[in-house]
Amino acid sequence: MSLYSEKVMDHFKHPRNVGVIENPDGVGEVGNAKCGDIMKIYLKIENDIIADVKFETFGCGSAIASSSMATELIKGKPLKDALKLTNQAVAEALDGLPAYKMHCSVLAEQAIRSAILDYYTKHNIPFDPELLKACEHCEEDE
Ligand code: FES
Repeated sequence: MSLYSEKVMDHFKHPRNVGVIENPDGVGEVGNAKCGDIMKIYLKIENDIIADVKFETFGCGSAIASSSMATELIKGKPLKDALKLTNQAVAEALDGLPAYKMHCSVLAEQAIRSAILDYYTKHNIPFDPELLKACEHCEEDE
């Protein structure tokens, strides 16, 4: 039996929402210092809804599958829901990741959060500082 679920393999081989959004409303880029992998998320936001999302991931298969699944999970959703997306939820939606690959899904959670914070900052929209704390927490997990 493969180490990876069919869903992981599917999203790795056929990633959804790969690419760049021109003039995005928010961009988030995060990296994992240990493995050197990088994930970048672009958002188009309309009326507090994620109208479009694209990603570029320079990283391992689990990071690509996580980015793909995470973008599918937040597309068309309100920002407040996207902010609640956890790496565990991404991994669950992929029918699990091996324990030593969980950190790859953390990149997806962080990149989305950082893109939304970029949107809030650029548009002078006040946001709950607790959100920033959540990001610090992710970095500790790496
Ligand atoms: Fe670096 Fe997966 S090994 S994100």
